[in-house]
This record gives sequence, C-alpha cells and structure tokens, in this order.
Amino acid sequence: MTQHVAVLMGGWSAEREVSLVTGDAVCAALKETGYRVTAIDVAPDIFDVLSGLKPDVAFNALHGRFGEDGCIQGILEVLKIPYTHSGVLASALAMDKPRARQMFASVSIPCPEGRVVHRDEVLNGQVFDPPYVLKPTNEGSSVGVRLVFEGDNMSPLDEANWAYGKQVLIEKYIPGREIQVAVMNDKALGAIEIRPKKRFYDYEAKYTDGWADHIMPAEIPEAAYEESLRLALLAHQTLGCRGVTRSDLRYDDTITGEAQLYMLEVNTQPGMTPLSLVPEIAAHIGISFAELTDLIVQDAGCQR
Ligand SMILES: Nc1ncnc2c1ncn2[C@@H]1O[C@H](COP(=O)(O)OP(=O)(O)O)[C@@H](O)[C@H]1O
Ligand SMILES: [Mg+2]
Repeated sequence: MTQHVAVLMGGWSAEREVSLVTGDAVCAALKETGYRVTAIDVAPDIFDVLSGLKPDVAFNALHGRFGEDGCIQGILEVLKIPYTHSGVLASALAMDKPRARQMFASVSIPCPEGRVVHRDEVLNGQVFDPPYVLKPTNEGSSVGVRLVFEGDNMSPLDEANWAYGKQVLIEKYIPGREIQVAVMNDKALGAIEIRPKKRFYDYEAKYTDGWADHIMPAEIPEAAYEESLRLALLAHQTLGCRGVTRSDLRYDDTITGEAQLYMLEVNTQPGMTPLSLVPEIAAHIGISFAELTDLIVQDAGCQR
C-alpha cells in the first residue's frame, strides 16, 4: 500500500523561507519515489491538522524554533505519528548551543573558547577580546550571528536589532576553514569545505547561488578529514540524534604544526535546498536526493 507522508514545512521561525524551499524539494522527491505526499505549512493548529490527516509518517522539513527544538517532535510523539530526524531531547539539546557545548565538552569534543553573557553586558562595552563571534543561543542559518574584529567601530549589538533574547553566546573567532560533515544512521558520510566569498558563511552565502564555493571532499589533510568525521559522529551520538544531522566545524590551519578542528554545532534539521550540503555530500557517495529522502522516511519513528 502506498505510504502517506505529511511533509511539515514553513512554520513561523526566522528560517521559515528556507524551510519552504527544503519542503518543496522534499515533496517533489518523495512523489518521484512513489509516496502519497501532503505538504503542510505548519501553523499553531498543527496538532488538529495532523490528528485529522493521520499520515503514516511525518517528514520534518522545518528549521529553527518549534520545528528543530523538540516542540514539534513532542506533538508527533503525543499523536504517535512516526517522524523523521531527531527526537525531543536530542533536538532540544542541539538547538541550545550553550548546552550542546557542555555535552561536547563532556566527551572532549573541542569547541571554541566561549561563554554566555547577558545582552546588556554586550551593550555596555567590550566583553571579550576581539576577534570574537556573537550569536543567539538558539537560532540557525547564521541568523543574528555577528563577527567582531579588532578595530571595528560599530557596536556589535543594539537594542533595536537584537531580537534573539537576553542571553548571547560569545565565542573566540576561529580563523581558517569552514568544514561541514553529514551523518546518517550513525555513519559519517563525508566532509565538505565551504569557501564563502564574504566575511563569513552568513545567511546570504548559505542561500544565494554564487556566494560560496563548495569543495567536496574538503581539501584538508587526511588525518584532519578523518578526525572531522569522528567528531561529527561522536557529537551526533552524544546528543542522541537520529537519522540525518550536519555538524558545522572550523578547521584552524593558520599556525603551521598546530592545526585544530573545533565543533560549532550539530544541526538536527539540516537544509535540503538546492544549495544545501547534506544532499551534496550524499551525492558524492552515490546517494541521489530521492534516495536520501527515501532513506530518511524509512528511518522515521517515535521514541515512546
Ligand atoms: N567561533 C567561530 N569562529 C569563526 N566563525 C564562526 C564561529 N562561530 C560561527 N562562525 C561563523 O558563523 C556561521 C554560523 O554559526 P553557527 O554556530 O554554525 O550558527 P548557525 O546555527 O546560525 O548556523 C558559521 O558557519 C561560521 O561561518
Ligand atoms: Mg551552522
């Protein structure tokens, strides 16, 4: 019998637009594979919509708050609808960058030196020696991320445009390369290198064609490549993730003989847009976009 998959997309997070692109791509691929597909633009009535629809599986194509932080996962658990990607706890932990950093530290995964400060401390003056990075504790897609370099004469924050809560995560800026690793079903698939053509891999570089070069496989020494896979798998397992995740790392090779990898975060709802990295890494090892979405559906489940 044809399986009925509800693709949950959109939502109301800062990453709504990205999720709609991910969702459209996933819907097309699942239809091609032969699934019956219903696209749902998620709104706060999602519990009622899903209890009426009763799909066999929910494909979670949401990004950001509510879709990536355990909330929608909790609703799906209550409704007993098998869903893709990580469960409640892993999603919540991965989305909360400070808590994820504590988990990483517990298994010796290196993270940039950093701390959480109150927004007012940042507004009142320099809280960390530049260069540093300031970011929301629980957003994605580089939303709200600011880089502060020596000599910058602009305040990194001002009340008017900081809409991401009272807590701010500040990390030492790690120079070098941007490396991302895909993990699927407890196996690291590969590492890709991103070379943004601007100050960093910001929202525009992530979603506008031409703003970043992708190098697959990442052009780093073999030992560092293998280490990036090991760290990503360990991070995925330490948070208790399921299905597909993408780990974002920095590789600082600016000081000869002292190159090091740093974990920035694990994404439990990695993008599946035409410019996204997980599909590109999968394609490199012979897994097409349609196969990838099919494998993700086959792995769907509930935890209770
Ligand atoms: N400590 C850091 N050093 C250097 N670049 C960073 C650092 N933290 C973040 N960045 C840059 O900002 C981007 C987004 O940061 P990340 O922590 O992955 O948050 P998001 O959830 O928004 O993707 C990274 O891909 C990287 O380019
Ligand atoms: Mg990231």
